[in-house]
Amino acid sequence: MAGPATYYTAAHASSLDASTRSLVERREAVLGSAYRLFYDHPIRFVRALGTRLWDADGREYLDAYNNVPSVGHAHPRVVAAMAEQAATLNTHTRYLSEPLIAYAEDLLSTTALQNVMFTCTGSEANDLALRIAKHATGNTGVIVTENAYHGVTTEIAAISPSLGGPSSLADWVETVPVSGDFAASVRAAIARLAERGIRPAALIVDTIFASDGVHPLVDGLTDAAAAVRAAGGLFIADEVQPGFGRLGHGMWGYDRYALTPDLITVGKPMGNGQPIAAVMARRDLVDTFGREVRYFNTFGGSNVSIAAAQATLDVVRDEGLIDNAASVGGYLAAALRDLGLTVRDAGLFIGVDLPSMHETLRVVNELRERGVLVAASGADNDSLKIRPPLVFSRADADQLLTELRAVL
Ligand SMILES: Cc1ncc(COP(=O)(O)O)c(C=O)c1O
Repeated sequence: MAGPATYYTAAHASSLDASTRSLVERREAVLGSAYRLFYDHPIRFVRALGTRLWDADGREYLDAYNNVPSVGHAHPRVVAAMAEQAATLNTHTRYLSEPLIAYAEDLLSTTALQNVMFTCTGSEANDLALRIAKHATGNTGVIVTENAYHGVTTEIAAISPSLGGPSSLADWVETVPVSGDFAASVRAAIARLAERGIRPAALIVDTIFASDGVHPLVDGLTDAAAAVRAAGGLFIADEVQPGFGRLGHGMWGYDRYALTPDLITVGKPMGNGQPIAAVMARRDLVDTFGREVRYFNTFGGSNVSIAAAQATLDVVRDEGLIDNAASVGGYLAAALRDLGLTVRDAGLFIGVDLPSMHETLRVVNELRERGVLVAASGADNDSLKIRPPLVFSRADADQLLTELRAVL
Protein backbone atom coordinates (compact mmCIF):
# COMPACT_ATOMS: atom_id res chain seq x y z
CA MET A 1 0.00 0.00 0.00
CA ALA A 2 1.45 3.38 -1.03
CA GLY A 3 2.07 5.92 1.75
CA PRO A 4 2.53 5.88 5.51
CA ALA A 5 1.90 2.41 6.90
CA THR A 6 -0.19 3.71 9.82
CA TYR A 7 -3.29 3.39 7.67
CA TYR A 8 -6.16 1.11 8.62
CA THR A 9 -6.18 -2.26 6.83
CA ALA A 10 -8.90 -4.90 6.61
CA ALA A 11 -6.71 -7.11 8.84
CA HIS A 12 -8.09 -5.09 11.78
CA ALA A 13 -11.75 -5.34 10.78
CA SER A 14 -12.51 -8.08 13.29
CA SER A 15 -11.29 -5.95 16.22
CA LEU A 16 -13.63 -3.03 15.41
CA ASP A 17 -16.92 -2.54 17.22
CA ALA A 18 -20.01 -3.24 15.10
CA SER A 19 -20.92 0.38 14.35
CA THR A 20 -17.35 1.38 13.36
CA ARG A 21 -17.06 -1.72 11.14
CA SER A 22 -20.35 -0.90 9.46
CA LEU A 23 -19.25 2.71 8.74
CA VAL A 24 -15.90 1.50 7.36
CA GLU A 25 -17.70 -0.92 5.03
CA ARG A 26 -20.27 1.66 3.87
CA ARG A 27 -17.48 4.18 3.28
CA GLU A 28 -15.44 1.75 1.20
CA ALA A 29 -18.57 0.78 -0.76
CA VAL A 30 -19.17 4.36 -1.91
CA LEU A 31 -15.70 5.98 -1.88
CA GLY A 32 -13.90 2.98 -3.37
CA SER A 33 -10.42 1.70 -2.63
CA ALA A 34 -8.14 4.72 -3.17
CA TYR A 35 -9.00 6.42 0.15
CA ARG A 36 -7.20 5.62 3.41
CA LEU A 37 -8.18 5.87 7.09
CA PHE A 38 -5.73 6.56 9.89
CA TYR A 39 -5.02 3.97 12.60
CA ASP A 40 -5.72 0.27 13.16
CA HIS A 41 -8.92 1.46 14.83
CA PRO A 42 -10.28 4.40 12.78
CA ILE A 43 -11.76 7.32 14.71
CA ARG A 44 -15.09 9.04 14.08
CA PHE A 45 -14.74 12.64 15.22
CA VAL A 46 -17.88 14.71 15.75
CA ARG A 47 -16.53 17.93 17.33
CA ALA A 48 -13.30 19.87 17.96
CA LEU A 49 -12.07 23.01 19.71
CA GLY A 50 -8.53 24.36 20.08
CA THR A 51 -6.16 21.40 20.43
CA ARG A 52 -8.95 18.92 21.35
CA LEU A 53 -11.26 16.66 19.36
CA TRP A 54 -14.12 14.44 20.58
CA ASP A 55 -15.29 11.19 19.02
CA ALA A 56 -18.85 9.89 18.67
CA ASP A 57 -18.63 8.29 22.14
CA GLY A 58 -17.62 11.61 23.72
CA ARG A 59 -13.98 10.57 24.21
CA GLU A 60 -11.48 13.46 24.14
CA TYR A 61 -8.28 13.40 22.06
CA LEU A 62 -5.26 15.72 22.10
CA ASP A 63 -4.35 16.85 18.58
CA ALA A 64 -0.59 16.69 18.06
CA TYR A 65 -0.94 16.01 14.35
CA ASN A 66 -3.25 18.36 12.45
CA ASN A 67 -1.60 21.40 10.89
CA VAL A 68 -4.64 22.58 8.91
CA PRO A 69 -6.59 23.95 11.95
CA SER A 70 -3.42 25.90 12.55
CA VAL A 71 -4.82 28.53 14.94
CA GLY A 72 -6.85 25.83 16.71
CA HIS A 73 -9.96 23.88 15.75
CA ALA A 74 -13.06 26.09 15.42
CA HIS A 75 -11.21 29.27 16.41
CA PRO A 76 -14.03 31.74 17.32
CA ARG A 77 -12.57 34.64 15.26
CA VAL A 78 -12.23 32.51 12.14
CA VAL A 79 -15.67 30.94 12.62
CA ALA A 80 -17.28 34.37 13.11
CA ALA A 81 -15.52 35.86 10.07
CA MET A 82 -16.63 32.95 7.88
CA ALA A 83 -20.21 32.93 9.19
CA GLU A 84 -20.60 36.68 8.75
CA GLN A 85 -19.19 36.59 5.22
CA ALA A 86 -21.29 33.55 4.24
CA ALA A 87 -24.41 35.39 5.39
CA THR A 88 -23.41 38.52 3.39
CA LEU A 89 -21.79 37.64 0.05
CA ASN A 90 -19.90 34.70 -1.44
CA THR A 91 -18.88 35.16 -5.05
CA HIS A 92 -15.64 34.92 -7.03
CA THR A 93 -12.63 36.90 -8.24
CA ARG A 94 -14.34 38.35 -11.34
CA TYR A 95 -15.93 41.05 -9.18
CA LEU A 96 -14.03 43.76 -7.36
CA SER A 97 -13.54 42.99 -3.68
CA GLU A 98 -11.63 45.25 -1.31
CA PRO A 99 -11.09 42.55 1.36
CA LEU A 100 -9.49 40.28 -1.27
CA ILE A 101 -7.10 43.03 -2.37
CA ALA A 102 -6.31 43.93 1.25
CA TYR A 103 -5.59 40.28 2.07
CA ALA A 104 -3.37 39.93 -1.03
CA GLU A 105 -1.41 43.04 0.05
CA ASP A 106 -1.14 41.74 3.61
CA LEU A 107 0.04 38.28 2.53
CA LEU A 108 2.56 39.61 -0.01
CA SER A 109 3.99 42.01 2.60
CA THR A 110 5.36 38.91 4.38
CA THR A 111 7.46 38.03 1.29
CA ALA A 112 9.66 39.77 -1.30
CA LEU A 113 7.26 38.77 -4.11
CA GLN A 114 4.74 41.01 -5.86
CA ASN A 115 1.83 38.90 -7.13
CA VAL A 116 -0.51 36.29 -5.67
CA MET A 117 -2.97 33.98 -7.44
CA PHE A 118 -5.60 32.06 -5.46
CA THR A 119 -6.50 28.37 -5.73
CA CYS A 120 -8.42 25.95 -3.48
CA THR A 121 -5.75 23.32 -2.77
CA GLY A 122 -2.00 23.01 -2.43
CA SER A 123 -1.99 20.63 -5.40
CA GLU A 124 -3.56 23.26 -7.61
CA ALA A 125 -1.12 25.88 -6.30
CA ASN A 126 1.85 23.67 -7.19
CA ASP A 127 0.29 22.82 -10.55
CA LEU A 128 -0.08 26.52 -11.34
CA ALA A 129 3.42 27.35 -10.05
CA LEU A 130 4.90 24.68 -12.32
CA ARG A 131 2.87 25.93 -15.26
CA ILE A 132 4.15 29.46 -14.69
CA ALA A 133 7.72 28.20 -14.29
CA LYS A 134 7.59 26.13 -17.48
CA HIS A 135 6.02 29.01 -19.36
CA ALA A 136 8.50 31.61 -18.11
CA THR A 137 11.63 29.53 -18.61
CA GLY A 138 10.63 27.64 -21.74
CA ASN A 139 12.13 24.59 -20.01
CA THR A 140 10.44 21.36 -18.93
CA GLY A 141 12.67 19.63 -16.34
CA VAL A 142 11.74 19.47 -12.64
CA ILE A 143 13.94 18.46 -9.71
CA VAL A 144 12.36 17.17 -6.48
CA THR A 145 13.54 15.34 -3.36
CA GLU A 146 13.54 11.54 -3.21
CA ASN A 147 10.38 11.12 -1.16
CA ALA A 148 8.67 14.40 -2.07
CA TYR A 149 4.93 14.90 -1.94
CA HIS A 150 3.55 17.95 -3.72
CA GLY A 151 -0.04 16.91 -4.48
CA VAL A 152 -2.44 15.02 -6.65
CA THR A 153 -3.06 16.61 -10.07
CA THR A 154 -1.66 14.57 -12.98
CA GLU A 155 1.26 16.98 -13.39
CA ILE A 156 2.00 17.13 -9.66
CA ALA A 157 1.55 13.40 -9.02
CA ALA A 158 4.26 13.01 -11.69
CA ILE A 159 6.70 14.97 -9.43
CA SER A 160 5.63 13.24 -6.17
CA PRO A 161 7.71 10.09 -5.65
CA SER A 162 6.14 9.47 -2.22
CA LEU A 163 2.86 8.65 -3.99
CA GLY A 164 4.11 5.79 -6.10
CA GLY A 165 7.90 5.54 -6.02
CA PRO A 166 10.42 6.43 -8.76
CA SER A 167 8.57 4.48 -11.48
CA SER A 168 5.56 6.81 -11.17
CA LEU A 169 7.61 9.88 -12.10
CA ALA A 170 7.53 11.60 -15.49
CA ASP A 171 10.67 11.39 -17.63
CA TRP A 172 11.25 15.14 -17.17
CA VAL A 173 11.69 14.63 -13.39
CA GLU A 174 14.91 13.98 -11.45
CA THR A 175 15.08 13.24 -7.72
CA VAL A 176 17.76 14.21 -5.19
CA PRO A 177 18.46 12.91 -1.67
CA VAL A 178 17.96 15.34 1.21
CA SER A 179 21.04 14.13 3.09
CA GLY A 180 24.59 14.86 1.94
CA ASP A 181 25.66 17.82 -0.18
CA PHE A 182 22.29 18.99 -1.51
CA ALA A 183 23.78 21.49 -3.99
CA ALA A 184 26.06 18.81 -5.48
CA SER A 185 23.06 16.44 -5.80
CA VAL A 186 21.05 19.11 -7.58
CA ARG A 187 23.94 19.88 -9.95
CA ALA A 188 24.16 16.14 -10.75
CA ALA A 189 20.39 16.06 -11.39
CA ILE A 190 20.73 19.02 -13.79
CA ALA A 191 23.48 17.07 -15.60
CA ARG A 192 21.29 13.93 -15.83
CA LEU A 193 18.45 16.01 -17.31
CA ALA A 194 20.91 17.54 -19.78
CA GLU A 195 21.94 14.06 -20.97
CA ARG A 196 18.30 13.63 -22.05
CA GLY A 197 18.27 17.05 -23.74
CA ILE A 198 16.13 18.58 -20.92
CA ARG A 199 16.78 21.89 -19.17
CA PRO A 200 15.32 22.55 -15.68
CA ALA A 201 12.18 24.67 -15.33
CA ALA A 202 12.29 24.38 -11.54
CA LEU A 203 13.69 22.93 -8.36
CA ILE A 204 10.70 22.57 -6.01
CA VAL A 205 11.13 21.66 -2.34
CA ASP A 206 8.94 21.52 0.75
CA THR A 207 11.14 23.71 2.95
CA ILE A 208 10.69 21.41 6.00
CA PHE A 209 11.07 18.26 3.84
CA ALA A 210 8.15 16.69 5.73
CA SER A 211 7.58 13.58 3.60
CA ASP A 212 11.36 13.02 3.47
CA GLY A 213 11.32 12.62 7.27
CA VAL A 214 11.45 16.28 8.54
CA HIS A 215 14.78 18.07 7.93
CA PRO A 216 14.95 21.50 9.62
CA LEU A 217 18.02 22.84 7.78
CA VAL A 218 19.43 21.30 4.62
CA ASP A 219 23.06 22.07 3.78
CA GLY A 220 23.39 23.69 0.41
CA LEU A 221 19.74 24.54 -0.30
CA THR A 222 20.70 28.13 -1.15
CA ASP A 223 23.51 26.96 -3.46
CA ALA A 224 21.14 24.42 -5.03
CA ALA A 225 18.65 27.20 -5.88
CA ALA A 226 21.53 29.21 -7.41
CA ALA A 227 22.60 26.19 -9.49
CA VAL A 228 19.09 25.74 -10.87
CA ARG A 229 18.86 29.45 -11.71
CA ALA A 230 22.24 29.29 -13.46
CA ALA A 231 20.85 26.45 -15.58
CA GLY A 232 17.83 28.58 -16.57
CA GLY A 233 15.33 27.28 -14.00
CA LEU A 234 13.45 28.73 -11.02
CA PHE A 235 13.29 27.92 -7.32
CA ILE A 236 9.82 27.11 -5.97
CA ALA A 237 9.35 26.99 -2.19
CA ASP A 238 6.44 24.69 -1.33
CA GLU A 239 5.30 26.24 1.96
CA VAL A 240 2.11 24.17 2.17
CA GLN A 241 3.42 22.33 5.26
CA PRO A 242 5.80 24.75 7.00
CA GLY A 243 4.16 28.04 6.08
CA PHE A 244 2.31 30.56 8.28
CA GLY A 245 4.72 30.43 11.20
CA ARG A 246 4.78 26.74 12.08
CA LEU A 247 8.58 26.63 12.25
CA GLY A 248 8.71 29.34 14.93
CA HIS A 249 10.96 31.62 12.88
CA GLY A 250 9.29 34.10 10.55
CA MET A 251 6.25 33.32 8.49
CA TRP A 252 7.90 30.96 5.97
CA GLY A 253 10.19 27.93 6.02
CA TYR A 254 12.60 29.53 3.55
CA ASP A 255 13.03 32.51 5.95
CA ARG A 256 15.62 30.35 7.76
CA TYR A 257 17.80 30.33 4.62
CA ALA A 258 19.49 33.23 2.79
CA LEU A 259 17.05 32.68 -0.03
CA THR A 260 14.25 34.41 -1.90
CA PRO A 261 12.13 31.97 -3.92
CA ASP A 262 10.90 32.85 -7.42
CA LEU A 263 7.56 31.27 -6.58
CA ILE A 264 6.00 30.28 -3.24
CA THR A 265 3.05 27.94 -2.83
CA VAL A 266 0.86 27.94 0.28
CA GLY A 267 -2.23 26.06 1.40
CA LYS A 268 -3.27 23.81 4.28
CA PRO A 269 -3.23 26.20 7.31
CA MET A 270 -4.04 29.29 5.24
CA GLY A 271 -7.80 29.33 5.99
CA ASN A 272 -7.71 27.18 9.16
CA GLY A 273 -9.67 24.48 7.28
CA GLN A 274 -11.51 26.54 4.67
CA PRO A 275 -10.16 25.39 1.26
CA ILE A 276 -7.89 28.22 0.19
CA ALA A 277 -4.38 28.04 -1.24
CA ALA A 278 -2.21 30.30 -3.38
CA VAL A 279 0.84 30.87 -5.54
CA MET A 280 2.96 33.93 -4.84
CA ALA A 281 5.31 34.91 -7.65
CA ARG A 282 7.67 37.49 -9.06
CA ARG A 283 5.67 40.01 -11.06
CA ASP A 284 7.70 39.43 -14.25
CA LEU A 285 6.89 35.70 -14.18
CA VAL A 286 3.16 36.37 -13.86
CA ASP A 287 3.40 39.04 -16.56
CA THR A 288 4.92 36.57 -19.03
CA PHE A 289 2.26 33.98 -18.14
CA GLY A 290 -0.65 36.43 -18.07
CA ARG A 291 0.13 37.88 -21.51
CA GLU A 292 -0.80 34.57 -23.08
CA VAL A 293 -2.88 32.74 -20.49
CA ARG A 294 -6.18 33.72 -18.87
CA TYR A 295 -6.57 32.51 -15.29
CA PHE A 296 -9.74 31.94 -13.31
CA ASN A 297 -10.46 29.51 -10.49
CA THR A 298 -14.17 29.29 -9.61
CA PHE A 299 -13.75 28.87 -5.86
CA GLY A 300 -10.16 30.14 -5.47
CA GLY A 301 -10.28 33.44 -3.57
CA SER A 302 -14.05 33.39 -2.91
CA ASN A 303 -15.25 35.92 -0.31
CA VAL A 304 -15.70 33.34 2.46
CA SER A 305 -12.26 31.85 1.81
CA ILE A 306 -10.64 35.28 1.94
CA ALA A 307 -12.50 36.10 5.18
CA ALA A 308 -11.21 32.86 6.72
CA ALA A 309 -7.66 33.48 5.49
CA GLN A 310 -7.58 37.09 6.78
CA ALA A 311 -8.91 36.06 10.20
CA THR A 312 -6.37 33.21 10.37
CA LEU A 313 -3.46 35.49 9.51
CA ASP A 314 -4.69 38.07 12.05
CA VAL A 315 -4.88 35.40 14.77
CA VAL A 316 -1.36 34.11 13.99
CA ARG A 317 -0.06 37.64 14.62
CA ASP A 318 -2.40 38.80 17.42
CA GLU A 319 -1.95 35.64 19.51
CA GLY A 320 1.82 35.52 18.98
CA LEU A 321 1.60 32.01 17.53
CA ILE A 322 5.01 32.10 15.83
CA ASP A 323 6.64 32.74 19.21
CA ASN A 324 4.43 30.04 20.74
CA ALA A 325 5.58 27.57 18.05
CA ALA A 326 9.20 28.40 18.89
CA SER A 327 8.83 28.15 22.68
CA VAL A 328 6.45 25.17 23.01
CA GLY A 329 8.15 23.38 20.09
CA GLY A 330 11.57 23.94 21.67
CA TYR A 331 10.31 22.74 25.05
CA LEU A 332 8.78 19.59 23.55
CA ALA A 333 11.83 18.79 21.40
CA ALA A 334 14.18 19.17 24.40
CA ALA A 335 12.00 16.85 26.50
CA LEU A 336 11.94 14.27 23.69
CA ARG A 337 15.74 14.41 23.53
CA ASP A 338 15.81 13.87 27.30
CA LEU A 339 14.00 10.59 26.62
CA GLY A 340 17.06 9.59 24.59
CA LEU A 341 15.30 10.02 21.24
CA THR A 342 16.78 11.42 18.02
CA VAL A 343 14.75 14.52 17.20
CA ARG A 344 14.69 16.80 14.14
CA ASP A 345 12.68 19.90 14.89
CA ALA A 346 11.83 23.43 13.90
CA GLY A 347 9.13 25.10 16.00
CA LEU A 348 6.03 22.89 16.09
CA PHE A 349 7.24 20.59 13.31
CA ILE A 350 8.98 17.67 14.96
CA GLY A 351 10.32 14.41 13.55
CA VAL A 352 11.36 11.68 16.01
CA ASP A 353 13.37 8.67 14.85
CA LEU A 354 12.31 5.27 16.12
CA PRO A 355 14.22 2.03 15.51
CA SER A 356 11.93 0.69 12.76
CA MET A 357 8.58 0.95 11.04
CA HIS A 358 7.23 -1.71 13.39
CA GLU A 359 7.92 0.40 16.52
CA THR A 360 6.62 3.55 14.83
CA LEU A 361 3.31 1.92 13.95
CA ARG A 362 2.92 0.61 17.47
CA VAL A 363 3.67 3.98 19.03
CA VAL A 364 1.27 5.82 16.68
CA ASN A 365 -1.54 3.32 17.32
CA GLU A 366 -0.96 3.06 21.08
CA LEU A 367 -0.92 6.85 21.44
CA ARG A 368 -4.22 6.90 19.57
CA GLU A 369 -5.65 4.38 22.07
CA ARG A 370 -4.45 6.75 24.82
CA GLY A 371 -6.16 9.73 23.20
CA VAL A 372 -3.20 11.44 21.50
CA LEU A 373 -2.94 11.95 17.73
CA VAL A 374 0.44 11.77 15.94
CA ALA A 375 1.52 10.19 12.63
CA ALA A 376 4.40 8.36 10.94
CA SER A 377 6.74 9.96 8.41
CA GLY A 378 9.72 9.23 6.17
CA ALA A 379 10.21 6.88 3.22
CA ASP A 380 10.60 3.94 5.62
CA ASN A 381 7.86 5.01 8.04
CA ASP A 382 10.38 4.98 10.87
CA SER A 383 9.88 8.43 12.32
CA LEU A 384 7.07 10.07 14.23
CA LYS A 385 5.60 13.27 12.84
CA ILE A 386 4.40 15.71 15.53
CA ARG A 387 2.76 18.78 14.01
CA PRO A 388 -0.03 20.14 16.23
CA PRO A 389 -2.15 23.27 15.90
CA LEU A 390 0.03 26.30 16.72
CA VAL A 391 -1.99 27.01 19.88
CA PHE A 392 -0.44 23.85 21.44
CA SER A 393 0.46 24.73 25.05
CA ARG A 394 3.13 23.46 27.45
CA ALA A 395 0.37 21.56 29.27
CA ASP A 396 -0.55 19.91 25.94
CA ALA A 397 3.14 19.06 25.41
CA ASP A 398 3.31 17.56 28.92
CA GLN A 399 0.26 15.39 28.23
CA LEU A 400 1.84 14.14 24.98
CA LEU A 401 5.12 13.41 26.82
CA THR A 402 3.36 11.54 29.65
CA GLU A 403 1.55 9.28 27.19
CA LEU A 404 4.61 8.80 25.00
CA ARG A 405 6.75 7.82 28.03
CA ALA A 406 4.11 5.23 28.99
CA VAL A 407 4.03 3.81 25.45
CA LEU A 408 7.82 3.69 25.05
C1 LIG B 1 4.31 19.75 0.86
C2 LIG B 1 2.93 19.61 0.29
N1 LIG B 1 2.63 20.23 -0.85
C3 LIG B 1 1.40 20.14 -1.40
C4 LIG B 1 0.40 19.38 -0.82
C5 LIG B 1 -0.93 19.26 -1.48
O1 LIG B 1 -1.90 19.99 -0.84
P1 LIG B 1 -3.45 19.63 -1.02
O2 LIG B 1 -3.72 18.34 -0.32
O3 LIG B 1 -4.16 20.81 -0.42
O4 LIG B 1 -3.72 19.53 -2.49
C6 LIG B 1 0.67 18.73 0.39
C7 LIG B 1 -0.39 17.94 1.06
O5 LIG B 1 -0.16 17.14 1.95
C8 LIG B 1 1.97 18.84 0.95
O6 LIG B 1 2.28 18.21 2.09
